[in-house]
Amino acid sequence: MIEEIKNLKNELDEKFNEKYSIKDVDLLRIEYLGKKGKVTQILRSISSLPIDQRKIVGNEINLIKKAVENFIATKRSELSKVKDQNDINFDFTMPGISRQIGHLHPITQTIKEICDIFVRMGFEIVDGREIETERYNFTALNIPLEHSSRDAFDTFYTDDGNLLRSQTSTVQVRVMEERTPPLRIIAPGKVYRPDTIDANHSFMFHQVEGLMVDKAITFSDLKGTLHLFLKEYFGENSEMRFRPHFFPFTEPSVEVDVSCFKCKGKGCSTCSHQGWIEVLGAGSVDPFVFESAGYDSKKYQGFAFGLGVERMCMLKNEIHDIRLFFENNLRFLSQF
Ligand code: PHE
Repeated sequence: MIEEIKNLKNELDEKFNEKYSIKDVDLLRIEYLGKKGKVTQILRSISSLPIDQRKIVGNEINLIKKAVENFIATKRSELSKVKDQNDINFDFTMPGISRQIGHLHPITQTIKEICDIFVRMGFEIVDGREIETERYNFTALNIPLEHSSRDAFDTFYTDDGNLLRSQTSTVQVRVMEERTPPLRIIAPGKVYRPDTIDANHSFMFHQVEGLMVDKAITFSDLKGTLHLFLKEYFGENSEMRFRPHFFPFTEPSVEVDVSCFKCKGKGCSTCSHQGWIEVLGAGSVDPFVFESAGYDSKKYQGFAFGLGVERMCMLKNEIHDIRLFFENNLRFLSQF
């Protein structure tokens, strides 16, 4: 028994020199003073010792017990102080852990920016369908069967005779069939064309369509609306010019150019040294389209326009390749 106590003392001498956490202190207590602890067991066995040894062993083991208890108490108070100190030293003004926050895709941002401008002018945003019938994409828009855009080379057809819309103009007749004038709507969305992909072409891109219908809407309403839009989007000093064009669903039709916002019309690489940049197709709604939708073309007038969202975003941000929008490279996307 004397031998056992000696070993216990040596063991504890070593233990007391180790490093302790609060948890270690607890484990030490259990190992020595717990119900089956090494000290406890010796204390229990004292009664079975010969009388002459009881006192000696009893004294020794009680001293050891005290030493362990003292050690535990000291360590506990030391450790609790260290903990407090850490709390005091904590710098609450330090920046927190920052998380990377995503943002809207540049195309979505551009759609929003364009729509916001028109909404401020009283336009309402409407949704269209991406899978359409030939009627809404072509026939009702005065695009005859023999028109080249109806060719399978220029439109994605589905097996059941429908198609992926090739322009957002589909929304014009869809909305007119459902409502009566006055109408002031814009319709953003995806369109599809079987173009070979290159820096300026993609088989899918986005357009924003605009349509205004009421009594006594004139061509100058179209001019005023578009000029205001272009000034808002490209800058206050932007000039606008109309060039005669042809669209089957507007008459007269125009292509709309904006003065180059970069060189102010002097000529640079952005405007291909023209001073002007083509940005929109537009015109007065053709009476044929009104009749397709069941409107009295004698009673109502209106204008329509359509623009390409990728193009608007590329111009403003000097992006030279449309493919960048769809490659999902974060090094590109995170710049917006
Ligand atoms: N839908 C035409 C296009 O895709 C644009 C347009 C819309 C032109 C409305 C006139 C009026 O090119």
